[in-house]
Amino acid sequence: MKKIEVENNIKIAETLPSSFYKSEVIFDELKEKVFYKSWQLIDHESVLPVNTNAYPFDFIKDYISEPLVLIKDDNNDFKCLTNVCTHRANIIINDRCKINDLRCMYHGRKFYLDGKFKSMPEFEDAENFPRECDDLKEFKIKKLGPFLFVGLEPSFDIESVFKEIIERVSFIPLDKLTHRGDLSKDYLVNSHWALYCDNYLEGFHIPFVHNDLNNVLDYGDYDTEIYENYNLQVGYAKDGEEIFDIPENHIDHGKNVAAYYYWLYPNIMLNFYPWGLSINIVKPINISKTKVQFLTYVFDESKLETGAGSSLDKVEREDEFVVEGVQKGINSKFYKAGRFSPSKERGVHHFHTLLSRSINT
Ligand code: FES
Ligand SMILES: [Fe+2]
Repeated sequence: MKKIEVENNIKIAETLPSSFYKSEVIFDELKEKVFYKSWQLIDHESVLPVNTNAYPFDFIKDYISEPLVLIKDDNNDFKCLTNVCTHRANIIINDRCKINDLRCMYHGRKFYLDGKFKSMPEFEDAENFPRECDDLKEFKIKKLGPFLFVGLEPSFDIESVFKEIIERVSFIPLDKLTHRGDLSKDYLVNSHWALYCDNYLEGFHIPFVHNDLNNVLDYGDYDTEIYENYNLQVGYAKDGEEIFDIPENHIDHGKNVAAYYYWLYPNIMLNFYPWGLSINIVKPINISKTKVQFLTYVFDESKLETGAGSSLDKVEREDEFVVEGVQKGINSKFYKAGRFSPSKERGVHHFHTLLSRSINT
């Protein structure tokens, strides 16, 4: 793949070139170079309620359909295994269920709950069997409160990231968050997935694009903090709007924080509001189509539809309008690349440097 350089110094840097968003070759290669190496949300741990201990899922549904299975063992520890039988590749678990061992229904191969090979009919004469590779491969799981994440071939350790997030939002009772299916939704956006992320990563457009949100947020006070594989945008409220109740001795104590917008490279957004958490997962479909999954978890119902966390559907539609406009514009023969606002587009610049690094490795 052709190298794409993004200058580290934002004051002289150019954005990713339009060719990045137009190239089918680059789009395809990002699957290996970026997404297989990423961490993805499996689900809230309540996905395995009492009387169930196996939950089949895809790594990134509708994009990377790598078959995986989440297992809860007898000590209530979670494991993630490949859901592909090591005999002739049948899918082992088809539905959420309670099992004592994993049994492939095709020819009866069995595995223990930790993925180790257990038994197989008609293999008495097989030599050098079973080998280590006849066990089910296990993948790393990391937890952010009750949320389970998996990495297949992760390029970074997410544990320290989660530790820092949990420290920052320590006053939010993560274990009290409950999933609200009625407030969760998928959006289909007619744009490259990275254009959707670009837009998310700056609050620069808020006064221009989001009238109502702009009435709640204090644009002048909007902060972007850059960390290694994630960044944080902090939205501050205008007086009288809903804010977090932040305890003394916390670094944000005394500030009118309306929302913490975390972005995890490359495609996960964790938006904390005084009512709870909105998780957005950006899933590429093709070069100009993206599915964005909005998952809503609430702990304080009374604050829903207040402050920066209100009218999220309207805000999303407003974002889609501009992102789809950019998708059209990026295909212009006469647009090559842009420049960054050094004060307002540090998040987008961060994303572009991470993408260029992944592409060039
Ligand atoms: S494919 Fe699983 S036992 Fe044959
Ligand atoms: Fe927006």
